[in-house]
Amino acid sequence: MRRRPGRVLALLAAPVAALGALAAAPAEVEVYKDPQAPLEARVDDLLARLTPEEKLALVHADSKFTTAAIPRLGIPRRWLSDGPHGVREDVGPDTWKPAGHTDDFVSWMPAIIGLAASWNPDLARQYGEVIGQEAKQRGKDIMLGPGMNLMRTPLGGRNFEYPGEDPWLAARTVVPYIQGVQAQGVSSCAKHFVGNDQEWERMSVDVQMDERTLRELYLVPFKAAVQEADVHTVMGAYNKFRGTHACHNDYLLNRVLKQEWGFKGLVMSDWAGTHDTKEAVLNGLDLEMGTDKPYDEFFLARGFREGLARGEYPVAALEDKARRNLRVMLETKALEGRGPGALNTPEHQAVARAVAEEGLVLLKNEGAALPLDPEKVGSIAVIGENAVKLQAHAGGSARIKAFYEVTPLDGIVRRVGQRATVSFAMGYQENAAPDLVEKAVKAAAQADVAIVVAGVGHGKFFDEEGQDRKDMRLPWGQDALIDRVVAANPRTIVVLVSGAPVEMPWLPKVPAVLEAWYAGMEGGNALARVLFGDVSPSGKLPCTFPRALADSPAHALGAYPSKDGAMLYSEGLLMGYRWFDAKKVEPLFPFGHGLSYTSFQYSGLKVTPGTAPDGPLATVEFALTNTGSREGAEVAQVYVADVKSSLPRPVKELKGSRKVRLKPGEKQTVTVPLDRSAFAFYDPARQAFVAEKGDFRILVGSSSRDVRLEGAFALKETSVAR
Ligand code: BGC
Repeated sequence: MRRRPGRVLALLAAPVAALGALAAAPAEVEVYKDPQAPLEARVDDLLARLTPEEKLALVHADSKFTTAAIPRLGIPRRWLSDGPHGVREDVGPDTWKPAGHTDDFVSWMPAIIGLAASWNPDLARQYGEVIGQEAKQRGKDIMLGPGMNLMRTPLGGRNFEYPGEDPWLAARTVVPYIQGVQAQGVSSCAKHFVGNDQEWERMSVDVQMDERTLRELYLVPFKAAVQEADVHTVMGAYNKFRGTHACHNDYLLNRVLKQEWGFKGLVMSDWAGTHDTKEAVLNGLDLEMGTDKPYDEFFLARGFREGLARGEYPVAALEDKARRNLRVMLETKALEGRGPGALNTPEHQAVARAVAEEGLVLLKNEGAALPLDPEKVGSIAVIGENAVKLQAHAGGSARIKAFYEVTPLDGIVRRVGQRATVSFAMGYQENAAPDLVEKAVKAAAQADVAIVVAGVGHGKFFDEEGQDRKDMRLPWGQDALIDRVVAANPRTIVVLVSGAPVEMPWLPKVPAVLEAWYAGMEGGNALARVLFGDVSPSGKLPCTFPRALADSPAHALGAYPSKDGAMLYSEGLLMGYRWFDAKKVEPLFPFGHGLSYTSFQYSGLKVTPGTAPDGPLATVEFALTNTGSREGAEVAQVYVADVKSSLPRPVKELKGSRKVRLKPGEKQTVTVPLDRSAFAFYDPARQAFVAEKGDFRILVGSSSRDVRLEGAFALKETSVAR
């Protein structure tokens, strides 16, 4: 049957039996209600039934996190919810205050930075499935995440919600996450598009970057979210981009996202990120959320209505926005209902623990300080507020009302049971005046091992939405505390809880350091399993840890914070490890770094040109052997370096990786395909990605600075593509 736009009359076909007597007579079919009908026909049909007022109701909020129902047509109220690490507690409806519900506890998953540190796309998929199932159970239609801005500066207040500094790794993290959410019939949201890589003056700052930097770095995860994961919704960023607010920015939303990438879903504003009716109408915004006014005074409510009546805006603009909203609703069974989901199941807990475990990065391990033997350790002094602090319900919009949270101290106590004595001393405390150091030093001196759980936290000017950190140092006297503790007990292990790099002036004295990020509800258990060697650590840094803030590109160039309201990304392509490589700056820990309790040998690199017309341009193959005595997983990383090119390029760029789990002595062949994009750069003159013929070096290694194998590849032909 050919479906026509507009009101569709048709004969009942399949459901005849089900409808019994009614079905005997020809009836007007509401195609939009027929789940078997093609999606576009359903959207057309439903759109044609809406009055202009009803269409307007679809394009702006009617509470903090909802849009209005249209009961006449069976369109329910639509629920949006933060955030990337779980389904946020209910607020409002008209305030940010918690609604006080008792049924909005959920699983708290590790922060996205930790997920990225796992370098495990299968886990990212499972993570997304957990979010989708819990959202479904909580009756949410759209989950506001994952965040996919990049770590341009270690100070970014929301770095913990984002997947690090590398666009390729970011894309590989968010694509399976989105697919996992959307496979549950819940929409995902790629946020914040684009340039919200820092919180500094986020509502007003004008982000300026050259086109190549935009295309090769900051757009990459968004493009993958649209084209590979078919993400249903995109959230505009608060900041301006080249002079216009990103939430209604013609270039970003109409030209790049919708025209070039073919995005069919809806663009929503960030909350209170809309500033102008005309721009909102014409520049690609489809859903206005969070504006701080009565709902009918939203830019896409009364202003839009009045402008339409005066003939200032094309009716087609409203049609298109309503259509996009309806499409997302119908795609996710908003009208027929999507059935029950699940909350905090044993499977969800297992995924939370696996992500936490695989995201833990062992930064340093001198003299095999770790793992600890629970049978031999005797006594352990656990020190530091982050050992006992609950982290879930903080950080801004990513906060979670967790069913439970296993803290580092809980995890350690549970793991050692009666085998060792565990003491705890606060050592430092956020904003606390009393001197807690002496007790901690005493506890450390009396114990066989001291574990200092240090780091940052989700307070103002730390890992929190709305502002950036002020510096990269550990706050609240922790550096001095660690110095004293390690002086009292050289067997001191430092565990960092943070969303981004911190300076470590005490590093030479401390034998072992673990980065634990914000590790979710199972974080303490995961940490204990790694500390006591039940599992070998396998996380790798998704960001460079600089020695000092001034080594980091935006800071080295004085390109952070903003000047006269503009944030100039003057480091351009040389962001993250690209800068440290090009400028030959030694980082504290390089991008991709992470140690294991076992050791891996790389051998037998082969780079084979692809032959299939639609296949990869090259296939990288090598063998990985576990040469140590424990099982472990290695993240093998493949970097591509262009030997000579018509435009300057970074020294090398990450273009592939594989995480491989091996038993002691086990050897496995690893294959990593490299497609066109692995060789291409963006040429602003041609407005296209160019893979230029010539020689490339293929670098395979255990981190960006630990290259174990090097091969060569020659591209025979130049190709140009969008
Ligand atoms: C944040 C978004 C979030 C929204 C709704 C904004 O302040 O930037 O990431 O989804 O609030 O809570």
